[in-house]
Amino acid sequence: MTAKLIDGKSLAAATKARVRGEVEAMVARGLRPPGLAVIMVGANPASEIYVRHKRNACRECGILSVAHDLDASCSQNRLLELIDQLNADPAIDGILVQLPLPGHIESPAVVERIDPTKDVDGFHPYNVGRLAQRRPFIRPCTPLGIVRLIEQTGLDTYGRNAVVVGASNIVGRPMALELLLLGATTTICHRFTFDLEDQVRRAEILVVAVGKPGLVKGEWIREGAMVIDVGMNRLPDGKLVGDVEFETARQRAGWITPVPGGVGPMTVAMLMSNTLESALRRQER
Ligand code: GUN
Repeated sequence: MTAKLIDGKSLAAATKARVRGEVEAMVARGLRPPGLAVIMVGANPASEIYVRHKRNACRECGILSVAHDLDASCSQNRLLELIDQLNADPAIDGILVQLPLPGHIESPAVVERIDPTKDVDGFHPYNVGRLAQRRPFIRPCTPLGIVRLIEQTGLDTYGRNAVVVGASNIVGRPMALELLLLGATTTICHRFTFDLEDQVRRAEILVVAVGKPGLVKGEWIREGAMVIDVGMNRLPDGKLVGDVEFETARQRAGWITPVPGGVGPMTVAMLMSNTLESALRRQER
């Protein structure tokens, strides 16, 4: 079997086009466009690339993007004050603090300071709790983007064996909660898992979000499985690869996401969609 490619790039483009249309319709009705504050502390090369993509997407969608680039030595209190100010700002519908933060800042305290109704990343404990209790409010962007990709394939997920490799707050954990919402029988593997290969071999839906190139061998993939690779690893020769051995995996999988062009673009598209929804709630609902 050669897998069908799951095209995140085109679904992301379609999602952003829909958001743009809705933003234009809002403005035509006399409402203000959505506003997203993007905070970056210090200069992490990967974060700079992600943030640039987010700001470009805002421009494409007609969303007002407000950049706050703080010095790496910025104190936690200064950052919390900025968040308080943005929480109170009526022109701001979404607040995003790019992670990771410098070591002297406690990320959980920062995330918890964001008004949960403006937490367009979906990382605030309120939003994670709502997802855990099957009443999602604002949903984390990468897992939500993956749900949209899975839905697009038409796969019936109820009762399927889903395996998530990686238990991070940003992807693995909320992804497992989303898979439960899709009715899948869900397992999370992490650094202490003894039998990663056996778990992966059982997976009918496999989501890998670790950040280690070649972690999952192509021969482990169950025949016909759906493989979602969240990894984005830059090799010494400059090539961008995921966490799954792509060429061998695609010979066995039923569907597979490419890297780049799979999950990455969907994360940004879902951020745009979350920001639009937040603006609509704030202005008209
Ligand atoms: N760092 C890596 N991924 C993300 C993300 O989706 N949101 C934020 N805020 N930081 C990140």
